Amino acid sequence: MALYSDKVMDHFRNPRNVGVIENADAVGEVGNAKCGDIMTMYLKIDNDIISDVKFETFGCGSAIASSSMATELIKGKPISEALQLTNKAVAEALDGLPAYKMHCSVLAEEAIKSAIKDYYDKNGIEYDKELFAEGHDCAHCCDV
Ligand code: FES
Repeated sequence: MALYSDKVMDHFRNPRNVGVIENADAVGEVGNAKCGDIMTMYLKIDNDIISDVKFETFGCGSAIASSSMATELIKGKPISEALQLTNKAVAEALDGLPAYKMHCSVLAEEAIKSAIKDYYDKNGIEYDKELFAEGHDCAHCCDV
């Protein structure tokens, strides 16, 4: 069996929603301390709906494919739904990632959360701090 699914290869070779939104309503940047990869997520938000999303990823192929898929999954969705998106759901939408690459999909989840937190902070919107707790537990994301 191929190491990477056709969907992973497709989103790696032809990533969707790459770039910068100049007048973004929210920006989130996260990094993986272990590998040094960085991801930035830009959101345009209208009436609580994510009307546009773009990303830049300086990272591995799995991180690029994960960010691309994640942007597709949250585009046009309410903020509340985007907040529910887990790295597992991103990996499933890609028809799976090798176990040792699951952490790459965490970057996508964290970048979206970081951008939404930025939106809440900029607009003085109250939120549950638990939702944006720093750091994550690998066992929670990767079944390890
Ligand atoms: Fe760093 Fe994939 S190896 S995000």
